[in-house]
Amino acid sequence: MFSVPTPSNVTVTLPPEGWPDFYDGSWTALHRAFRDRHAATPFANAFQAVRYLEKTFELIDKSQVGDVMPGGRRLLRTSSFRGQTCVIPAYANVYAGEILADLVAGMGPFDAVVELGCGYGRNLFDCFYFGGWSGPYFGGELTEGGRAFASELIGLATGMQASFHPFTHLAPDLTFVGRPKRALITTVHSIEAVEAIPEDYFDRLADGAEQVVGVHIEPVGFQYGSLGEVSDIHRQLATTLRWNLNFRDSLQAAINRGRIAVSMIAPEVLFPSDALNPSTIIIWTSR
Ligand SMILES: C[S@@+](CC[C@H](N)C(=O)[O-])C[C@H]1O[C@@H](n2cnc3c(N)ncnc32)[C@H](O)[C@@H]1O
Repeated sequence: MFSVPTPSNVTVTLPPEGWPDFYDGSWTALHRAFRDRHAATPFANAFQAVRYLEKTFELIDKSQVGDVMPGGRRLLRTSSFRGQTCVIPAYANVYAGEILADLVAGMGPFDAVVELGCGYGRNLFDCFYFGGWSGPYFGGELTEGGRAFASELIGLATGMQASFHPFTHLAPDLTFVGRPKRALITTVHSIEAVEAIPEDYFDRLADGAEQVVGVHIEPVGFQYGSLGEVSDIHRQLATTLRWNLNFRDSLQAAINRGRIAVSMIAPEVLFPSDALNPSTIIIWTSR
């Protein structure tokens, strides 16, 4: 009745305009798509809007799509786990925002949840909807396109307190957070877009509140060693595509200075949408 797709390599190329302009264009295009659909059939809330955009603009190479169900949605997808490619149900989705919501519930209370490099804020919206914590949430984002879209989506997230601000990983400045008592500060596949973060990057995040819990869901597993074929290909891709290469070194520098202590490093444990760009979870606390 249906055929299982074979895991195949994803062909990814470095956008000629560079990652920041690429993302600015992508968020502006999504913003337009959101407005068109919202004008025709209004979304009830930001959760619906984010899900619609994710489904409509999947990152997956179409060559990886197996049989589709009547109506056009696919049933299976290629992903990877701990260094190996695998085929999983297309509905076995991992939501970074759900992980954040669980950490907010389990490690809270917090006075702020901050995502740096938040794009159009989907992880913060998901954190709100999965967990129910009303905020304040702060999004820091390099692109005007991402901030503009996120700021409009807030209007659909009744009960959520959120604001979006200019931010660059290259010179991290968290003044906009207002130095609360206890903050959860996260990045999700965003440090990825910066070849080299500053050596004192994590010290600066640790200074963002009196107490900070840092949570990174970033494709940096290869920096901790190889788990298999996917880690090896990932390392090569990271060099070619100018993805981040020094997350581990900067984190270690902050650990060596006694500024942070790491609670967990879990390499390549989620089912990425791009099989060859697997996510690793790193959690630390400020000292
Ligand atoms: C793959 S997207 C992830 C966005 C969001 N975290 C998510 O999971 O939906 C990478 C994001 O990093 C942002 N970015 C790229 N360079 C950056 C920089 N130097 N400082 C801060 N953000 C940056 C991009 O604009 C983009 O929004």
